[in-house]
Amino acid sequence: MISQSIHSESTNKLSHLITIKQITPQLSERLCHRASEFKHFFSTQQHDQYNSILKDKIVNLLFFEPSTRTMCSFQSAVLRLGGHPLTLDIQSSSSVKGESLQDTLRVMEQYGDLTVMRHSKRGVHQEMSSYLTKPLVNAGDGDGEHPTQALLDLFTIKEEQDRVAKKIDFQVQTICLFGDLKYGRTVHSLLRLLYIYFRNQPLKIYLISPEGLRMPQYVIDECVQLGVNHTLVQTEMLTPEIMNELDVIYVTRLQKERFESEEQYLKLKSSFCLKKENLSASRNSHVPIIMHPLPRVDELDEAIDSDERAAYFRQMNNGMFMRMAILEMLLK
Ligand code: NCD
Repeated sequence: MISQSIHSESTNKLSHLITIKQITPQLSERLCHRASEFKHFFSTQQHDQYNSILKDKIVNLLFFEPSTRTMCSFQSAVLRLGGHPLTLDIQSSSSVKGESLQDTLRVMEQYGDLTVMRHSKRGVHQEMSSYLTKPLVNAGDGDGEHPTQALLDLFTIKEEQDRVAKKIDFQVQTICLFGDLKYGRTVHSLLRLLYIYFRNQPLKIYLISPEGLRMPQYVIDECVQLGVNHTLVQTEMLTPEIMNELDVIYVTRLQKERFESEEQYLKLKSSFCLKKENLSASRNSHVPIIMHPLPRVDELDEAIDSDERAAYFRQMNNGMFMRMAILEMLLK
């Protein structure tokens, strides 16, 4: 259960962004709309439409786990909105002297107006939010959640749906989450958001993973409890028949760093890969839209990159615009 304290008084305005469960359909629509406006202003060079939104604001970036896209897209989003990022180098910070996480966060709160944090412990943001008076954003909590990624993924699904619909009669109906669904936090948040956002548009959702890397039952239960009319199918094989049905496939890497042993990882490593040959079973050359939160390791064939269905670099680009929308919502 999410405590009331992480929602502010007015509905549809959050004081922190900790879990995707805080997001309503209306709020996700609003954020996607705003991200799309930012994208348009950016591509038409109307920088004055956004470059003073975070004037005089400082955003703390605390990454206790590695990151390229999430950290740099937040940093870029802050700079483009006219604010200032303040990045703590964890390795040379007082946390290596044994300072507690709540103390580090309380210190950073004195310097900045909002804190973006990634950490290896599931649920840590919820725990820390009670010590803080300024907004906290979850940029990944171990094998828990990644709410800002799910929002940019939804934004990408909507954008890609519009792109394909210009060519053929198209609406997303079948989505597959493929790979490490056990430890992958992006898919935990995304599955929930598919239930929240598409509540009136029934989807068929395939969850395809090796037996030992299935979507945790607690995530599925939470989704099912929302009472939405989606069909959920769990399986271990991406067959040509399934490929033929898919509108979107969301590939994730095996989360090596979260496996109990190297041996277990090596056993599964090569068993999961989306290859160019797999796409020959798709029903036409416009689908499925292929997504990936990146980084990729072995699970997504580079030969797919030049295919127009490969949306993962566009998805990454969308991340900056969605993060601009999120920062604006929390700081204005
Ligand atoms: C993901 C993450 O950190 O959970 N990366 C990202 O934020 N784009 C996915 C991953 O590491 O596999």
